[in-house]
Amino acid sequence: MPDFDLIVIGSGPGGYVAAIRAAQLGMKVACVEKEKTLGGTCLNIGCIPSKALLNSTEKFSEIENHIDEHGISADKINIDISKMMIRKNKIVTKLTTGIGFLFKKNKITQLIGQASFIDSKTIQVKNDKDERRHTASNFIIATGSSSKKIPSITIDEKKIVTSTGALSLDAVPESMLVIGGGYIGLEMGSVWSRLGTKVTVVEALDRIVPSMDGEIALEFMKSLNKQSINFKLSNKVVSTKTNKNDIEVKMQSTLDNKQITENYNVLLVAVGRNPNTEGLNLNKIGVKLNDQKAIIIDKKFKTTVDNIYAIGDVVPGPMLAHKAEEEGVACVEIIKGQKTHINYDNIPAIVYTNPEVASVGKTEEQLKKLNTEYKVGKFPFMANGRALTTSSPEGFVKILVDKKTDSILGAHIIGHDAGQLIAEIVTTIEFGGSAEDIARICHAHPTTSEAVKEAALSVDGRAIHM
Ligand code: NAI
Repeated sequence: MPDFDLIVIGSGPGGYVAAIRAAQLGMKVACVEKEKTLGGTCLNIGCIPSKALLNSTEKFSEIENHIDEHGISADKINIDISKMMIRKNKIVTKLTTGIGFLFKKNKITQLIGQASFIDSKTIQVKNDKDERRHTASNFIIATGSSSKKIPSITIDEKKIVTSTGALSLDAVPESMLVIGGGYIGLEMGSVWSRLGTKVTVVEALDRIVPSMDGEIALEFMKSLNKQSINFKLSNKVVSTKTNKNDIEVKMQSTLDNKQITENYNVLLVAVGRNPNTEGLNLNKIGVKLNDQKAIIIDKKFKTTVDNIYAIGDVVPGPMLAHKAEEEGVACVEIIKGQKTHINYDNIPAIVYTNPEVASVGKTEEQLKKLNTEYKVGKFPFMANGRALTTSSPEGFVKILVDKKTDSILGAHIIGHDAGQLIAEIVTTIEFGGSAEDIARICHAHPTTSEAVKEAALSVDGRAIHM
């Protein structure tokens, strides 16, 4: 008899959710984690700490730049960086220990150490104290991803940092070069820019957030630009030289190869993430990887070995915590013989800057490429009462629908509440709904959700407040 019905490798949002769902379904479950705390990148060095810092710095920036218009004055605004970091760390500890409680409640065995496969039914878990073997009928690999490195740049997590170092700087740097205009670069760039750092983003492509709708990306860049973040598009870093007080960075244009050299105090490398597959001994047991070193799986999350499954950042697809969670649940239910399904065309993505940017489904560029006939409905927050009363008139809602059927193909929102507002559209898409469905629903007044309704009305030129 194997020791467990299921061993999950990795305790991030994919892994811990899979372990809990498996326990709910009556399986004898273990979850292996090599780090000291549970929760993976998301809870320890990703989504949660970054959102804590985004919230603190948004408050600081709001007070520093906007309280005057409310008739409020304050003599001097200060921010204590170490206190801000303590708050962030407390939130992380609360959530990561919370997973430990959930494991106990669900009778999940926590194995501490680095897992590697001995054969398709056995793993070895190695930590500082010992090495032990454990067997299971099934395994789920949920080992996540790590920051992609640039070969010519050495990370020290002090001056040249990934998101991990950028979440724990002990002082506000004078200047920062963010390499990569994606999710991490723009969120962490915003944090330090709000605290006074002169932030420049260098992006290899001719636009930021390449996976998002082009019109939204342009508006997003303009907004960040107004917040004093500078952009160098179509440029790559070719070399760096670390001096005593700063780093000399040579950049080269991807258009005309022109080179420039500039000096920055901190460099943040945010050029994407790689799946974590090393050290698992996958090659030996026959688990195959694709060209990007992600684990190849079939539609039922099964790897090239029968009883070994994989989910989350370690498999192809968007590297998002909520996608990993859905996969964790679906994978376990499939192992248990249940029928389950994930709609990969309906996974929302959010950048938690101010304004936030949220998106689901197809972009306008993708629809054009697919030769899909579509209609667009748009509504600006400038014409929304609630947005004006909360001093957040920036941005708009954009809904893309099928020209013939009116069913929603995609939605893209830039605005203060974008991350919350997208949920209504995700729900509508999941139920096969149309713009007309949203347009006919009563939305509370005054709320920014009315802008979603107005965008739906605007698909047929019926917006009331425009
Ligand atoms: P990303 O894929 O979002 O963006 C990386 C950017 O770097 C791209 O725009 C790319 O064109 C650019 N780039 C690549 N090589 C470059 C080079 N040598 N020089 C200049 N630019 C270069 O990756 P990011 O921001 O590192 O995030 C990694 C993953 O983490 C993403 O898949 C994202 O989904 C996830 N994430 C999600 C968050 C959220 O849901 N709010 C927050 C943070 C990360």
